[in-house]
Amino acid sequence: MADVPVPRPGPGQIQVRIAAASINPADVVLPGGVYRERAELSFPHVPGNDFAGTVTEIGPGVTAFREGDEIFGQAVPRVLRPLADPVRPSLSTGSLAEYAVFEADTPLLAQRPPGLGVAEAAALATSGLTARALIATARPQRGETALVVGATGGVGTAVVPLLRAAGVTVIATATAADAPLLRDLGAAHTIGYTDAYPDGVDAAFNLALPGDRLTRIAHAVRGGGRLLTITYPLPERDRDDIDTKFVIDLGGALGGMREVAEAALRGLLPATIGRRYTLDEGPKACVDFVREHTTGKLVVTV
Ligand SMILES: NC(=O)c1ccc[n+]([C@@H]2O[C@H](COP(=O)([O-])OP(=O)(O)OC[C@H]3O[C@@H](n4cnc5c(N)ncnc54)[C@H](OP(=O)(O)O)[C@@H]3O)[C@@H](O)[C@H]2O)c1
Repeated sequence: MADVPVPRPGPGQIQVRIAAASINPADVVLPGGVYRERAELSFPHVPGNDFAGTVTEIGPGVTAFREGDEIFGQAVPRVLRPLADPVRPSLSTGSLAEYAVFEADTPLLAQRPPGLGVAEAAALATSGLTARALIATARPQRGETALVVGATGGVGTAVVPLLRAAGVTVIATATAADAPLLRDLGAAHTIGYTDAYPDGVDAAFNLALPGDRLTRIAHAVRGGGRLLTITYPLPERDRDDIDTKFVIDLGGALGGMREVAEAALRGLLPATIGRRYTLDEGPKACVDFVREHTTGKLVVTV
């Protein structure tokens, strides 16, 4: 942990006093140099994509937000600009801090409605956005069955209730301890990580296994069904009789943070917060995320 200068907003940017941030896999792999060939980090590096907080300063030309607005959202570190949406990149100085500066012109930031708490909003930013993008791509139909691999994680605990609300019978991977939570979230059945997958599901969602290890999941899908995956490397297609799609929505084309807030307020997207930390405990939150089994999201409150 180190003190760095409070970042100030330039044209088109806003400064936010962070109230809560949540940990994503990208936050912890980035400092390990995974994207070094495309984006070299400089240190000190402030991690953190997801946040909720209060707008404290407005840069020139910003009309979307005003000082005092309560907002939340997702923005990647500026160094990842080459990997962000090319038209309206959602970038920041890093949300695991007391203050961060964000680009204002993006659907990935939105007003936080009073009915959505700061920890819940921070927990739902990337996970809610990604879960909604998965549903928009999969277009599940009432009466279908779906296998969700990685259902216990941030994205998984968001996608299971959305599938249930669409009338889908969900079979979710879970540890024994997490099985009751997954059933509360809407899973009809839970299976262990290494159990045999069911046969003939209409759709399978891969939220855990590397994209080049999808053979077992692909074989759970019926002919003509679909396989949705969100992990790198990009999926290798094992079967040409199913529709395999890699889902990523960097610019909110499938719905941005406003839609996440609406779904949360309607009770469709509950936030699952496994553990909470203070900012001083931020490094521990990152270490726990890497080393331990975590359920739902880890949230750091500032
Ligand atoms: N394409 C996109 O837009 C996008 C967006 C967000 C995230 N992602 C990627 O999607 C993945 C999931 O993100 P996340 O935020 O949900 O991560 P997460 O919170 O770490 O969740 C992953 C979950 O999968 C579980 N898991 C690990 N191995 C498993 C296995 N063999 N079978 C079943 N479950 C297993 C993990 O449990 P344990 O703790 O027991 O290992 C954890 O609960 C990450 O690779 C992330 O980088 C992509």
